[in-house]
Amino acid sequence: MTATSEFETQSWPEAWQVFDHGLGKGRYTDPEFARLERDRLWYRVWQFAARLDEIPQVGDYTTYQIVDQSILIVRVAEDRVKAFFNFCPHRGTTLGEGSDTFARGAIICPFHGWRWNLEGQIQFILEREQFRDGCLEDRDARLREVHCQVFEGFVFVSLAREPQPFAEFIAPVRDILEKLKLGQMHHRWWKAVVGAPCNWKVAQEAFHETFHLAATHPQLEPVGARLVYEGIDPAGRPLGHENIAYEALAHGHGRFYARGSSPISDKTPNPTPAQLEAMIEHMEHLVEELDTMVLSRDLEVARSLRGRQVPPGSSWAAEFVKALYERAGAEGRPMPEPTPEIVQQWGGEVFVFPNLLILPNIGNAMIYRARPYGLDPDRCIFEIFSTTGYGAGEAVPRAQVEVVTDPTDPAQLPLIPRQDFSNVPRVQKGLHALACNRVWLAAEQERLILNMHRELDRYLTLP
Ligand code: FES
Ligand SMILES: [Fe+2]
Repeated sequence: MTATSEFETQSWPEAWQVFDHGLGKGRYTDPEFARLERDRLWYRVWQFAARLDEIPQVGDYTTYQIVDQSILIVRVAEDRVKAFFNFCPHRGTTLGEGSDTFARGAIICPFHGWRWNLEGQIQFILEREQFRDGCLEDRDARLREVHCQVFEGFVFVSLAREPQPFAEFIAPVRDILEKLKLGQMHHRWWKAVVGAPCNWKVAQEAFHETFHLAATHPQLEPVGARLVYEGIDPAGRPLGHENIAYEALAHGHGRFYARGSSPISDKTPNPTPAQLEAMIEHMEHLVEELDTMVLSRDLEVARSLRGRQVPPGSSWAAEFVKALYERAGAEGRPMPEPTPEIVQQWGGEVFVFPNLLILPNIGNAMIYRARPYGLDPDRCIFEIFSTTGYGAGEAVPRAQVEVVTDPTDPAQLPLIPRQDFSNVPRVQKGLHALACNRVWLAAEQERLILNMHRELDRYLTLP
């Protein structure tokens, strides 16, 4: 393999290089590489720091940790959010931990009681005359803001002094994310595996392709699984992932979606009851084993089609979508416009560089985020968010994280992420093998991974 970076990476060791067909393993295992990522990626890039559902009321705050930086995110007004470096200018104490509410709009340091309003302006200093010979100025004591942008229910922050304009950063995925109406979807549940035993990119890249379905999730791709585990040739029957188009976008973003038809834009002629049952069975897997991309109320809609006739020219999938929209309409639940583009994106993924993965489906969305755990290249924080549209008058719960202490415990994680999590520690362990120098990437199926690493190199080589 030859190193192909267009950036100034010649002085880097071979283990850090991006190749035409793969990646040096040091990108996942080397502490020096993790340090470079902190300094040049995480201290600069726009990144998903919170969902608005974490701070639904004015005065609510949440905190976001990235490597060694804690960021305080505050709902300043109904329509305004601010982010601050989470420290007290007096002696450094963090001003918020986890998430909570600043009562009466006052941020009060728990150590000596300095106080700010939600805008970060200093309001009270105990015995102020003792500081700086009595000349302490308000600006000496103000909170230090972090650049912050709200987009489709996500709060993005950048720690850079002068970040890339957000509009430019998000441009390649803006249109699709807006059409998916993610801002109208709200919190159902949110789980975090803290200190998971793998590099953040190893965890993330387990979700960048559907190539792993046959081996890792055999119940979702039985034809492929028989090929992998029993050597049974599918004899022309398609593998579940063959229908997927992978699109690498500018700025490291990307997406994959159903090429031609998706399971729910299917136009199979002469629909039979058996086809409906196959569709229901697939949905049952997703309800039971993922509990986010298909919800039990969606499954009820599919089951309600039993015994019905499919009108000429239609299909079970089309009838399902029709019934789904009727139900959502009756409940006053917002749904994206079911255009061919959106229907093809359902069941696929939109990736926002460097670490946000959005998997929309039939008015729901699963969201993944992977980030480093301190400077340890062998650990990460991995989160799963389940979001959906809520009916008119239905209360949306404030988003609170549930920490998963054991990712192999069926009581803590559903089957599909548990299957994924059975691989990632093994990947990390294997990468440390003395004889392992690099990993190979499939040209189509794993192209989003390569695209992401090329953009990563751009950040790591920026002055
Ligand atoms: S450290 Fe915050 S008031 Fe003293
Ligand atoms: Fe998976």
